[in-house]
Amino acid sequence: MFSVPRKVLRTASPYLAPEQARSRQLYFAMLDERGDKTGRIDELTRATSRTFLLKHLSAAAAIDTDFPADLQSLPHILRQSHKHAAQAYRHYLDRRHGGAPRSYFSSRSHAMYFLRAVAPTKLVDGAWLYGLLQRWQDPRLAPLIQTYLEELGCGNTLQNHVLLYKGLLARYGCDKWQNGPEEHFTQGTVQLALAHHAHEFLPELIGYNLGYEQLPLHLPITAYELNELDIDPYYFTLHITIDNASTGHARKALQCLLDCTPSIGNAADFIRRVGNGFRLNQVGVGTPQVIASFDLEQELLRVLADKALVGANLHSDYCLVAGRSVSDWLTSPGEIADLLKALQSAGWIRRGESPEKSRFWHLVTDKQAPMFGVFDGYEQQLLRDWILADTGQTPTARTSNRFRSRPRLADVEKTTAVVPGDASLERIIAHHADAAPSPGSCPDVDALFRHLARADTKAKAFAVLEGMLSPGNHPTPAGLAATKLYTDLFQQVL
Ligand SMILES: [Fe+2]
Ligand SMILES: [Fe+2]
Repeated sequence: MFSVPRKVLRTASPYLAPEQARSRQLYFAMLDERGDKTGRIDELTRATSRTFLLKHLSAAAAIDTDFPADLQSLPHILRQSHKHAAQAYRHYLDRRHGGAPRSYFSSRSHAMYFLRAVAPTKLVDGAWLYGLLQRWQDPRLAPLIQTYLEELGCGNTLQNHVLLYKGLLARYGCDKWQNGPEEHFTQGTVQLALAHHAHEFLPELIGYNLGYEQLPLHLPITAYELNELDIDPYYFTLHITIDNASTGHARKALQCLLDCTPSIGNAADFIRRVGNGFRLNQVGVGTPQVIASFDLEQELLRVLADKALVGANLHSDYCLVAGRSVSDWLTSPGEIADLLKALQSAGWIRRGESPEKSRFWHLVTDKQAPMFGVFDGYEQQLLRDWILADTGQTPTARTSNRFRSRPRLADVEKTTAVVPGDASLERIIAHHADAAPSPGSCPDVDALFRHLARADTKAKAFAVLEGMLSPGNHPTPAGLAATKLYTDLFQQVL
């Protein structure tokens, strides 16, 4: 007798706080502030997220890093760290060109597992910077506000990082990530908590941003192996370039830190808090841990046990496997492993052969088959890889990047409003209203421009727009329209 599949993550991070079990709920509570479009969260969520942040900051403070006690040596340390990552990636490539196997993903489903596991983090990309918008008049924070606007694609659908990742998940049938383990939500929840407590935790936010924008070794390796497995790596390659230390987000992060560090008063305490924010990047499960937590068979059993809950009484009784009806099998999710064995014994699944030779595979994937549509792209890939069972029939490694073609600039520019630099506020708003989805097609867009019509100063316009740029609101038609206008107005403040 087999038991219900064990939890997906078998190795806990040493940095997980005891409150991690609440991450998922808090994550969605902070994203669910769309009702009034103000970008604000309710008082209970605010208090809970503050406690969450404090607890993870205290866990972060105990993490050993080489963040210095004074800032003089920081640029050198960051350069060295970048150099080490680049060298390690070079060695990785040399090993791979010498015939070594992939370091990260054992199969395509393994890579898709990873895409789902990091979804809670990627779908709030840049969120920690949101709370800085209310300080648009502070020139020291301008580089970080600029970074936030770039994370949002400056309002262009094709360049908004959250929408890019959403598109990636949808393209490969990986968009069922919402019920993942609590541990997968820690970093996303940290980012949202920083978004809503930016004022109180500004040094920590600046430090967190600096840490996040550094090039981690896993980023180029992930991109390389996704491409090999025929999965578009653009989201990841984009972050190698846009975060670069010479002109990109990493440089802006350092610049902001240097500008914000007090020259008089308690600079040491400020830097200590920045260091804690820097370390905050390491709480929860990191990319290497997520990748290491994949177990093909356990993950397939978990998926099938989930299906059993829904499908237990939906099968007809004449369909027998090992003398028992499928409905009977499915009423005991703990016996899924036995069911898989029975399906193999009955010849419905022929492991170690092409999936096309398995009757069960056709039941799941053929357009007219009874179970067509029950398994999403990720789940089908799991089943496929499990049936193949290390026969070497996984996709042939790609050495060229066939995904290189990206949104054409012309397509992007078509969606961008261009307003002359000396235009009046009224004219800028009117210009953006013309470029937005036509009146009546989206009530939120209509409401946005109705409110903006009453804004007779830039400060009032920013106040109206700000809430629409929140992590929950920005990837919507009204959020994108607001981001475009905000970006134009912000350029004039600089
Ligand atoms: Fe990003
Ligand atoms: Fe970035």
